[in-house]
Amino acid sequence: MISYKEKIADILAPQIEGLEKEEIMSMIEEPADSKMGDYAFPCFKLAKVLRKAPPMIAKGIAEAIADNEAFDKVEQVNAYVNMFVSKTEFAKEVVSEAVAKGDAYGRSEIGEGKKVIVEYSSPNIAKPFHIGHIRSTVIGNSIYKIYDFLGYDAMRINHLGDYGTQFGKMICAYRRWGNKEDVIKEPIKTLLSYYTKFHEEAENDPSLEDEARAIFTKLEHGESEEVELWQWFRDESLKEFNRVYDMLGITFDSYNGESFYSDKMPRFVKELADKGIMEEDAGANIVRLDDYNLGTALITKSDGSTLYITRDIAAAVYRKETYDFYKNIYVVASQQNLHFQQWIQILEMMGYEWARDCVHIPFGLVSLEEGTMSTRQGRVVFLEDVLNRAVEQTKQIIIEKNVNTENIDQTAKDVGIGAVVFNELSNYRIKDYVFSWDKVLNFEGETGPYVQYTHARACSILRNAGEEVAAKAREGFDPQYITGESAHKLIKLIYDLPDVIVEAGEKYEPSIVTRHIVDIAQGFNKFYHDEHILVDNEDEKIAKVALVMAAKAAIKNGLGLLGMNAPEKM
Ligand code: ARG
Repeated sequence: MISYKEKIADILAPQIEGLEKEEIMSMIEEPADSKMGDYAFPCFKLAKVLRKAPPMIAKGIAEAIADNEAFDKVEQVNAYVNMFVSKTEFAKEVVSEAVAKGDAYGRSEIGEGKKVIVEYSSPNIAKPFHIGHIRSTVIGNSIYKIYDFLGYDAMRINHLGDYGTQFGKMICAYRRWGNKEDVIKEPIKTLLSYYTKFHEEAENDPSLEDEARAIFTKLEHGESEEVELWQWFRDESLKEFNRVYDMLGITFDSYNGESFYSDKMPRFVKELADKGIMEEDAGANIVRLDDYNLGTALITKSDGSTLYITRDIAAAVYRKETYDFYKNIYVVASQQNLHFQQWIQILEMMGYEWARDCVHIPFGLVSLEEGTMSTRQGRVVFLEDVLNRAVEQTKQIIIEKNVNTENIDQTAKDVGIGAVVFNELSNYRIKDYVFSWDKVLNFEGETGPYVQYTHARACSILRNAGEEVAAKAREGFDPQYITGESAHKLIKLIYDLPDVIVEAGEKYEPSIVTRHIVDIAQGFNKFYHDEHILVDNEDEKIAKVALVMAAKAAIKNGLGLLGMNAPEKM
């Protein structure tokens, strides 16, 4: 699609001496109030060079370009040149492109040839996959989809928390109090209960800690019995995680978690020592980062065991050597800010010039209306339960509203899960938020169901229009019929989508897409409210159907980037 800013800069350039086209482009504004035109050019900056008052300059420019056929109207208002683009030309350009591209509308190739790793979700084995994990999972998935859509060679990694001394404790507890059948029946809840029991018992019997440590050492040395149990815990936990991923429609290209790096760490411990970055401290190995205000990082404990941070250093280098990434993105809670700052700093000190291509994308906390979550006090909300409840409640609503859909279960799933996902991606990721059922399942507000419903409404109009009209709309249409105020506003929103996606990618901020598709949905509903679409006049009908097709494609593609389905009937 042509860039209107560029097109306008081309028109303005001959009128403005001394400014490069690029600079002119960067100065062009898009007024929030449509009365000021689609684009506006401020002349303040030119006053110094031209030694004239800005309004005079604006007047001169406005008069010089007024007759250009790219515009319906050009006005000078104070220091501004306000430009109203030709609505017919704009409609033709944007709508035919969106109709022609359909599912690919908004796609780009800006990332071609660049490998981007998005690491997200990364839950801990044998620990609850709770509502708190939804953030990394859903935000990460959307960032992955956005990068993929922008043409990057994107890949998804689930860096499972499947290693560490806690597995010594878990195996110890299982051997003492465990039962195989219980684990198989309800792996995570059962394993978690063993883990809790271990801590209770260890308070009175500290020797348990030693036993657990010894078991972990065996695991680290690859002793078969311990490895087998660990593997089994991992497999059972993954089965449970996968149920949730299936519901969300999420898959990963790699599940290489912390354990994968267990044998890859000695190289870095040695390298840190050789490069004089690490020092010994009471038997442990540390890196002092006081110069960077980042405290001290513990690399190995006094018993030689490695830590979370050691594995992250090994993982980053492994990824660079294996995938030669352009960017290595970590979607992890803001509580881990220091951790990421530390190890990225250490990589830099080690001389890896790509260290800053590792980016931590933090996000805020989710809390429940009844208070923050607490594993100890049993205030854990399992993500699976949340998703199931969302689907169940949506089904109830569908039945109550007597909505006519062929496949209630599938629709309830698309809408219920979509509602949770959309809610998650509605706010800036860094903001803390409170999970509220009322907000999530509202069909009226700026919610997932609202946007999906708008998409379904567009689909229904297209079904009523019939394939023949749709086929004609694809061939061409007379844009004069879609130049009304609400049509023009809607077209502008559709036009903006590709740039919005680029911006969301640059800022790692899916909520930018979420907000924009809410705008498109509202713009569409306004158009639907203001105008009759399936009118008798054939040419008018075809043009309007083309706009419906364009809006539908924009909404569907936007939803897809959030990781949501767009049902055709609701
Ligand atoms: N498993 C960790 C947790 O649940 C998150 C892992 C984040 N990724 C990383 N490379 N450190 O807190």
